[in-house]
Amino acid sequence: MPATVIVGAQWGDEGKGKIVDLLAQDSDVVCRYQGGPNAGHTIVVDGETYKIRALPSGIVRGKPCVIGNGCVVDLEVLIGELDDFESRGRSTDEVYVSGNAHLIMPWHLAIDQASERRLGKLAIGTTKRGIGPCYADKAMRLGIRVQDILDPKILRQKIEVALAEKNLWLQRVYDSEPFDLETVAAQYEGHAQRLRRYVADTSLYVDNALRAGKDVLFEGAQATLLDLDHGTYPFVTSSNPVASNAATGVGIGPQRIDRVIGVAKAYVTRVGEGPFPSEIEGADQERMRELGHEYGTVTGRSRRCGWLDLVALRYAVRVNGIDQLALTKLDVLSHFDELPVCVRYRTPDGGETRDFPAHQSDFHAAEPVYDVLPGWSEPLDGCASAGELPEAARGYVEFVERELDVEVTLVGTGADRASVLTRA
Ligand code: GDP
Ligand code: IMO
Ligand code: MG
Repeated sequence: MPATVIVGAQWGDEGKGKIVDLLAQDSDVVCRYQGGPNAGHTIVVDGETYKIRALPSGIVRGKPCVIGNGCVVDLEVLIGELDDFESRGRSTDEVYVSGNAHLIMPWHLAIDQASERRLGKLAIGTTKRGIGPCYADKAMRLGIRVQDILDPKILRQKIEVALAEKNLWLQRVYDSEPFDLETVAAQYEGHAQRLRRYVADTSLYVDNALRAGKDVLFEGAQATLLDLDHGTYPFVTSSNPVASNAATGVGIGPQRIDRVIGVAKAYVTRVGEGPFPSEIEGADQERMRELGHEYGTVTGRSRRCGWLDLVALRYAVRVNGIDQLALTKLDVLSHFDELPVCVRYRTPDGGETRDFPAHQSDFHAAEPVYDVLPGWSEPLDGCASAGELPEAARGYVEFVERELDVEVTLVGTGADRASVLTRA
């Protein structure tokens, strides 16, 4: 399949990095199309762990990697990752960064932090990596782009124009420290030297690859329910993780996308604030967190844990056009006698729905209605094929397929690269 999008089907951290790493084996190019270092994608290879934030996960397989125009780039994070891969003896020669991607500048980080502080109890719980303020400046047409680093004069001028406004904002609105033009300009001139060789026309590069019949993966960051348009606004990120944005975020036509693979955990987690109907009550929440090691890759925060929510997952299938699902972390469920699965929401008027509520108040008030499936106690790490899964685990996966009318083609049975089973 030439062009495949891998998209998070829940609230992030579904194991997208691991699935991209698996499929990258047979792909020629891997692209990120949105988001920035708010992402944390973990790949475990023979006990060695990679936590990747800026580069596409295909870098671990040594594949050509594209950071598309739809991404926001923190040069310190990206350069740190490039240095890290090089120090592990890996080549970064085939990393291509779109000149149209926007730069996360130091004031974006400062504003993200100050704004969350000011919101107090209403805070979104962002990763504080400057994502929202950077995309806001992009939409305001005040942003600084990757291509601006190619000309020191233009770069300095843009920093000066931005700082004239941002320093006022930081001092007067947020009571925060201003930035010094000379310091920032000198720092970015240094970054520019390091990064300039990676800047490329990535739309043209990906188009050429597709025309040559190559296999291209589009790696989503964040996820459907964190999507700026389709997620649980305002508790969302500031970009569009949904699959259709792979076209805009890289610069290809929508008809070029051949396949959309959704990645979902066999349960649900969420970091940050916002409604979460199937959030587990009582001791099982902590148990799930410990068993699944559910702590944020980027911020170290505890992830909130919930039972699998098929209403939300059905919605993700719809808004992304998901053709197939990868169901990760099935092994974590081995420790529960019974497995509640949310199949409908009860609405305040006493009705029940299988469809995700279109209005935020209905979603906030939604109560989960569970079917309780039998658990299994066998660990899954010994299963060499999907047929060897315990009967109840097979039943769990088949239940998901029936309810959603989508095939589950991959099942995750452990963190390591090798721990994934292919079905059908
Ligand atoms: P991403 O942001 O979607 O790439 O996911 P993260 O890397 O943030 O979080 C997923 C976590 O689950 C990582 O620590 C992975 O190593 C781990 N993981 C992925 N798939 C599996 C699986 O099938 N079983 C287990 N136990 N861990 C997994
Ligand atoms: P990956 O790619 C989980 C959440 C934050 C917060 C909201 C907005 O690893 O799945 P932002 O910093 O983007 O403005 O924060 O989105 N969030 C994530 N949650 N996984 C992620 O990425 C996330 N990226 C952002 O916790 O609730
Ligand atoms: Mg993550």
